[in-house]
Amino acid sequence: MAEPGHLAQLSALTTTVITCLILITPTPAAASGASCVASERDALAAFRASLLDPAGRLATWSGHSCCRWRGVHCDGSTGHVVKLDLRNDLTVHSDTDWILFYEVRVDIDSSWVHSALALRNTGEMISSLAALHHLRYLDLSWNNFNDSSIPLFMADLKNLRYLNLSGPSFSGRIPPQPGNLSNLQYLDLSYGPTISSDLSWLLGLSSLRHLDMSWVDLSAVRDWVHTVNTLSSLKVLRLRGCKLESAISTMSHFNLTRLEVLDLSVNKFNASIQQKWLWDHKGIKELYLTEGHWFGSIPDAFGNMSALQVMDLGHNNLMGTIPTTLQHLCDLQVVSLYDNYIDGDATEFMERLPRCSWNKLREMDLHSTNLSGPKFPSWLKWQTEIRVLDVSGTCISDSLPVWFKTVFSQAYSLNLSDNQLCGTLPRTLEDMLAMVMDLGSNNLTGQVPRFPVNITYFDLSNNSLSGPLPSDLGAPRLEELRLYSNYITGTIPAYFCQLRRLLPTWIAKRIPYSRFLRLRSNMFSGHIPEELTNSFGLHYLDLANNNISGIMPQSLAGMKAMRRTTPDGNRGDVYEGSISSFTKGQELHYTFSNYNLVVLLDLSGNSLTGQIPEEISLLLGLKSLNLSGNHLGGKIPNTIGDLKGLESLDLSRNRLSGEIPSSLSELTSFSWLNLSYNNLSGRIPSGHQLQTLNDQEYIYIGNPGLCGPPLRKNCAMRGRHDEVDDVSDDLAVLYLGGVQAGQ
Ligand SMILES: *[C@@H]1O[C@H](CO)[C@@H](O)[C@H](O)[C@H]1NC(C)=O
Ligand SMILES: *[C@@H]1O[C@H](CO)[C@@H](O)[C@H](O)[C@H]1NC(C)=O
Ligand SMILES: *[C@@H]1O[C@H](CO)[C@@H](O)[C@H](O)[C@H]1NC(C)=O
Ligand SMILES: *[C@@H]1O[C@H](CO)[C@@H](O)[C@H](O)[C@H]1NC(C)=O
Ligand SMILES: *[C@@H]1O[C@H](CO)[C@@H](O)[C@H](O)[C@H]1NC(C)=O
Ligand SMILES: *[C@@H]1O[C@H](CO)[C@@H](O)[C@H](O)[C@H]1NC(C)=O
Ligand SMILES: *[C@@H]1O[C@H](CO)[C@@H](O)[C@H](O)[C@H]1NC(C)=O
Ligand SMILES: *[C@@H]1O[C@H](CO)[C@@H](O)[C@H](O)[C@H]1NC(C)=O
Ligand SMILES: *[C@@H]1O[C@H](CO)[C@@H](O)[C@H](O)[C@H]1NC(C)=O
Ligand SMILES: *[C@@H]1O[C@H](CO)[C@@H](O)[C@H](O)[C@H]1NC(C)=O
Ligand SMILES: *[C@@H]1O[C@H](CO)[C@@H](O)[C@H](O)[C@H]1NC(C)=O
Ligand SMILES: *[C@@H]1O[C@H](CO)[C@@H](O)[C@H](O)[C@H]1NC(C)=O
Repeated sequence: MAEPGHLAQLSALTTTVITCLILITPTPAAASGASCVASERDALAAFRASLLDPAGRLATWSGHSCCRWRGVHCDGSTGHVVKLDLRNDLTVHSDTDWILFYEVRVDIDSSWVHSALALRNTGEMISSLAALHHLRYLDLSWNNFNDSSIPLFMADLKNLRYLNLSGPSFSGRIPPQPGNLSNLQYLDLSYGPTISSDLSWLLGLSSLRHLDMSWVDLSAVRDWVHTVNTLSSLKVLRLRGCKLESAISTMSHFNLTRLEVLDLSVNKFNASIQQKWLWDHKGIKELYLTEGHWFGSIPDAFGNMSALQVMDLGHNNLMGTIPTTLQHLCDLQVVSLYDNYIDGDATEFMERLPRCSWNKLREMDLHSTNLSGPKFPSWLKWQTEIRVLDVSGTCISDSLPVWFKTVFSQAYSLNLSDNQLCGTLPRTLEDMLAMVMDLGSNNLTGQVPRFPVNITYFDLSNNSLSGPLPSDLGAPRLEELRLYSNYITGTIPAYFCQLRRLLPTWIAKRIPYSRFLRLRSNMFSGHIPEELTNSFGLHYLDLANNNISGIMPQSLAGMKAMRRTTPDGNRGDVYEGSISSFTKGQELHYTFSNYNLVVLLDLSGNSLTGQIPEEISLLLGLKSLNLSGNHLGGKIPNTIGDLKGLESLDLSRNRLSGEIPSSLSELTSFSWLNLSYNNLSGRIPSGHQLQTLNDQEYIYIGNPGLCGPPLRKNCAMRGRHDEVDDVSDDLAVLYLGGVQAGQ
């Protein structure tokens, strides 16, 4: 049997979970028309009756011909059930575009739960399946059997060749029962059962070719190295994220001579990468040692691994450079060394890569290494097969090569950010295949071109791009666009409001239709477009530091996503990626897990006139409101106190007048307030929350008409303006005392 998902794994370096699905689709049994053995039908029916099936996946499980039931496959001649495939197929739910680039654990998308089979009654799964004596293939992966443990009847299925219990189908300890399945060739327990302290049952599985126990806590298993080392038929071994520790160095002779795929990523080996047993293994095709706490320099013997296709050593403490001995690694397709202390000149580095594999390279990730430029490595010019390239932060100080577009036209993820690339972008990028492109924090000049047609994420922020945006971006799938910190002029194009997917879908699924738009620090002019404020899903709008004029429209209240108060985030979410947000007077970095809670409106540093519309108080979800540095006049609406979730409010540097509404003091979530440099007057409202804020005086500075604590200026009994009274006031002392205590 060919390695399932092999190619998919190559192209999805960090993804071990989901890509494999694509290539293993169940083949219809030859004799699916045959009627089935009555006792087996009864067993299946009883099994079904014990399950909840919210998505109706087992709707075909009725009638006599159980071989026709979905997921059931019978032997053509005997009619016995030989295969039961009840995998809850994740590909149906997940957005494959993104799966390619992000490490996915359970929660890229929790909608698998909706189609997961579950147990109707508490306790263990019923044992009726034990009657399927001829079963060779059982896949129950990614269901939800209510945290029950792996049922002991599995031990009776002596003919099993393939057992897949991956995903959160079961939990608890792994029992020794799988060890009785001496014919087993494929065993996948990844992402499910949480712990095992004894692996000696593995010794019974001498035919095992594929073992995946990723994310099972094996930290208590004393002898895992030697146990695993007896499985000499293994071709694929995945022990990713198993909390394994240093024992790896006790391996003297590596017995797994047939091994082709070794994944020991995300463990804490704290060991030297110079493991002789490993590097002398000529047969390994895919080696994943990312995030394993390995140190030292990559040995010369690396050059002996002549079958190697994937070399994933990212996020370790490796030093030095790659050896010069690699010339026989002619199949090398993936080189990932990010987040290591690999140093030297990037061009030299690339020239050490085997010449015979040039043109085969599909992925290269060198970000956060100590490699440095200064020239754009011309070697890349020949890498037309490259699909994923990350050379961000490698000090390349050169112009964007003219061959950029043609060579990388087939790439789907390109990250050249954090370099000093200068020059202009090609006039159009529309014929590139890219889905993710990050050119942020360079020094690109000229105009923003039309985008690659299928792009979902594009970062051009923090460059020197100028001129107006194209009349049509030509990128209907765009989910996230970063354009901040450039010199882009013109009005904010209405098409931003039409982009359906301006947010990674896994977030969008949590907050449907959610979108975020960040165009700060450009030179956009004109009014706030009405389409924007009508845009249902926008919960994050940052137009700060532009040249936007006109009033703040009342229609702002149409931003429904800002009206919703979001519940507290689900803890334990693992999203890759973060955004930074300017709030509370500083730049904060939100990871996506808390980012989905951020409801923000930042219009600061523009030329807005008129008043703050009262309707702003309808945006109940707001956490951060920044209107500073405009020409807003009139009073602060009293209704602002309705924004109970507000953590940060900045109205400084406007022309606001009148009194500070006392409702402000009722905002209990406040941790940042700035009202400085306006024309506010009257007594500063008292209230516990206001007095716990930092920098009390600076909050109000530049408003000569304000009086009362925390200012030194006392309020005269009836006067309105500027009555300075030096007689000390008991209350003032009290309040100031409160301030100290509060901090
Ligand atoms: C099992 O989990 C499902 C889904 O969470 C739930 O609907 C069902 O009631 C649970 N069954 C039992 C017996 O707790
Ligand atoms: C087990 O099923 C999961 C999907 O549910 C799949 O990703 C994995 O590759 C399967 N394991 C094997 C060994 O086929
Ligand atoms: C499983 O194997 C163990 C020995 O390895 C044996 O004692 C036990 O009886 C077996 N269980 C079944 C159900 O065959
Ligand atoms: C290697 O595998 C063979 C065959 O299974 C076994 O006899 C031998 O003990 C194993 N060696 C080690 C060091 O585990
Ligand atoms: C890693 O190993 C070194 C010695 O090789 C030891 O000094 C250090 O404490 C270990 N670190 C951890 C976190 O175990
Ligand atoms: C592996 O490579 C090293 C250094 O390149 C060499 O000395 C050694 O003989 C090689 N080992 C094998 C088994 O080929
Ligand atoms: C390597 O880079 C890290 C930060 O990325 C830096 O702290 C370290 O000093 C650098 N080391 C060398 C040898 O340049
Ligand atoms: C590109 O690389 C930079 C620096 O390594 C990183 O911060 C950024 O998230 C990457 N962009 C994408 C889209 O992954
Ligand atoms: C864009 O995506 C569609 C659908 O996935 C595909 O058919 C088309 O070839 C892609 N076009 C480009 C230029 O990537
Ligand atoms: C913008 O780019 C410069 C270098 O080009 C870098 O120093 C700075 O940190 C970047 N700023 C942001 C916000 O990314
Ligand atoms: C960016 O490029 C412009 C002109 O191309 C140059 O004047 C400027 O100094 C560059 N900025 C940086 C940070 O390299
Ligand atoms: C700012 O906008 C006004 C009109 O709204 C325009 O006249 C002016 O040129 C703009 N300034 C810049 C620097 O673009």
